[in-house]
Amino acid sequence: MAAPTLMQCLLAISLLSFAAHAQLSTMFYASSCPNLQGIVRAAMTQAINNEPRMGASLLRLFFHDCFVQGCDASILLDAGGEKSAGPNANSVRGYEVIDTIKKNVEAACPGVVSCADIVALAARDGTNLLGGPTWNVPLGRRDSTTASASLANQNLPPPTASLGTLISLFGRQGLSARDMTALSGAHTIGQARCTTFRGRIYGDTDINASFAALRQQTCPRSGGDGNLAPMDLQTPARFDNAYYTNLLSQRGLFHSDQELFNGGSQDALVRQYSSSPSQFNSDFVAAMIKMGNIGAGNAGQIRRNCRVVNS
Ligand code: HEM
Ligand SMILES: *[C@@H]1O[C@H](CO)[C@@H](O)[C@H](O)[C@H]1NC(C)=O
Repeated sequence: MAAPTLMQCLLAISLLSFAAHAQLSTMFYASSCPNLQGIVRAAMTQAINNEPRMGASLLRLFFHDCFVQGCDASILLDAGGEKSAGPNANSVRGYEVIDTIKKNVEAACPGVVSCADIVALAARDGTNLLGGPTWNVPLGRRDSTTASASLANQNLPPPTASLGTLISLFGRQGLSARDMTALSGAHTIGQARCTTFRGRIYGDTDINASFAALRQQTCPRSGGDGNLAPMDLQTPARFDNAYYTNLLSQRGLFHSDQELFNGGSQDALVRQYSSSPSQFNSDFVAAMIKMGNIGAGNAGQIRRNCRVVNS
């Protein structure tokens, strides 16, 4: 057989790269499940009316999904150990809300919509319903048949991370330092357990003393590991740019948060986001879409039940 021509090689290469980067599309379910967005929105509205924090929890669930094998709903699988990996166990919340949305979506459009896309839409609606921006979510992800505890442990950043570690963990996912700093603004909503910030409030020096004293009141040196504190001290149920203003006065809750404004490469951007909500919102949206593209084009299935692989 003759050696392949240059044209044949180029064609093979472009087909391969197409397979590896299938394009998501905001119109993906326009004809196969036209009410999808309304169904997700209604369930998210109800969940947030019950408990505003749920908007934050679903935003975080999406992040923790995307950083492990791509945005493939691997985190939702009960088997495989990803759910019980260090960064997720007793920490990630919102699985029941996804179950409810999936049940409603299956009733309207059986076997059509991936769990991974439901998570992406729920994260967008959680953000928006708490006062954040909205955007069109590119869709067409597929659900994995595997989960990974070890990748969850390796890829998800700990709250003790240095700036260098944060930049490198996001970099490995194809996200820039700017994306990382914008996405960290998600910590304007939600709550954290004492165990995740104890080291900072008793040990760090780049912390506002009155803020440290305040947090110590409900997070003792030992015990109370599960006691909650808001990550944004004034408006934890409102998606705004207060996360960055807090950093300016050394009131970041996690060591990793304060690393973004501690004399390093992200200081100028933190100042910019603290003074410009619109700049923050537009960078946040761009970074969410970029994060949502991790693993796009991965093979997989449309799970019937988000917790288990189809039999
Ligand atoms: C930059 C590195 C990051 C680190 C080190 C980090 C770490 C953490 C930790 C330790 C918690 C508290 C968990 C607990 O108490 O169980 C938390 C909560 C949260 N994180 Fe992050 N995170 C990071 C980035 C992100 C990103 C990129 C997003 C989303 C775009 C995000 C969204 C959230 C939200 C919304 C919560 C509150 C969840 C709730 O109240 O249920 N985080 N994060
Ligand atoms: C510490 O926080 C308080 C508010 O809690 C603020 O008024 C003060 O300016 C902060 N101090 C510093 C050094 O940023």
